[in-house]
Amino acid sequence: MDVKEVAGVLCMNVGETETSYANNSLFQKTIILKTREILEDTIKDLFRNVQPTCFKVADLGCSSGPNTFLTISQVVDIVHEIYRQQSQKLKSFELQVFLNDLPGNDFNAIFRSVPAFLEKLKREKGDFLANCSIAGVSGSFYGRLFPTRSLHLIHSSSSVHWLSKVPKGVENNKWNIYMAKSSPPNVFKAYAKQFQEDFSLFLTMRAEEMKPRGHMFLTLIGRKNPDPSTEFYGWELLAESLSDLVSEGLVKESDLDSFNIPYYAPYEEEVRKIIEEEGSFQLDRLQLVEVDWDFHEEDDINNNDLKLDKYERGKKVANSIRAILENFLASHFGDAIIDRVFARLAIIEAEHLDLDDDEKVVNIVVSMTKK
Ligand SMILES: C[S@@+](CC[C@H](N)C(=O)[O-])C[C@H]1O[C@@H](n2cnc3c(N)ncnc32)[C@H](O)[C@@H]1O
Repeated sequence: MDVKEVAGVLCMNVGETETSYANNSLFQKTIILKTREILEDTIKDLFRNVQPTCFKVADLGCSSGPNTFLTISQVVDIVHEIYRQQSQKLKSFELQVFLNDLPGNDFNAIFRSVPAFLEKLKREKGDFLANCSIAGVSGSFYGRLFPTRSLHLIHSSSSVHWLSKVPKGVENNKWNIYMAKSSPPNVFKAYAKQFQEDFSLFLTMRAEEMKPRGHMFLTLIGRKNPDPSTEFYGWELLAESLSDLVSEGLVKESDLDSFNIPYYAPYEEEVRKIIEEEGSFQLDRLQLVEVDWDFHEEDDINNNDLKLDKYERGKKVANSIRAILENFLASHFGDAIIDRVFARLAIIEAEHLDLDDDEKVVNIVVSMTKK
């Protein structure tokens, strides 16, 4: 699968259904909520040097659903708070937001929600927010998206771990769909190389688009161990579900063997090294934030007193994976097996949750300034 193919088929499930991204993104929402303080420090730092009359912000990999608007709300709240703390008479403030994602993203759903969202902002912030415009920018963040030196802040949550393509040279990763303990050594090397190239290109593109001393804030999934061959990533369980369908004769073994996910969870030092070597940004902060994979914590944050049994929890986890990967899987294996893959995955996840009740996913949070 080449670059163009990934950009065309990686697309979160649209709509407001049991398996849509909008209804299955609590994990990502928790990351946004738990990293708010670091975003606040990033914006405060930016405003120490620049006080823009029109603050230009881009959110890359915005998807569509509540998280898209949560990010914008957080930015507005933080800037409002900065002005309030400066105890100046509130200046009026203009915000221009660019929401970027791949062409398959449900931009129509976003635009339908914009008027109600802007009304709500106006009610909450009164005259402070003189003007807020929200635009969509369709395209891959591995290419140029914005004019030269046009942005003050670039934000991206839970997106940069998606690679531009499946790495070359992973054909022998049989029965696996990502790096796994049983993967041959070349597979780990190929994934690491692809991330190195992609993330470095991402930084170079963004540096061209940002104003001098502009700031960038990223969250991406990382891993706990420097040695990638010792980690449990979670994708092993989806591979198990697909393998079961191979055993039942519903999926061809060769189709499973040729399927690999264009995703990479780096170790924190890899991220640090790529930022240093690429050289366009000064790294202000790199921090790890752990989030529960199966929503205990999210339920606390959202004050839901949900007491789900393990099979209900397994289904929630399977749905959250389906919301992200259904289109990608269907483009390779066909639509017919999708319901079975995820019904099986729900059970496998439930059994896994039973084994290890406290599984946390590491997220790498990076805040940097354009040199
Ligand atoms: C898991 S969603 C995260 C959405 C949202 N930021 C959040 O935190 O809930 C990842 C998003 O990144 C987008 N994405 C992946 N690769 C991309 C690329 N090369 N260019 C732009 N967007 C990309 C996907 O389409 C998807 O909408």
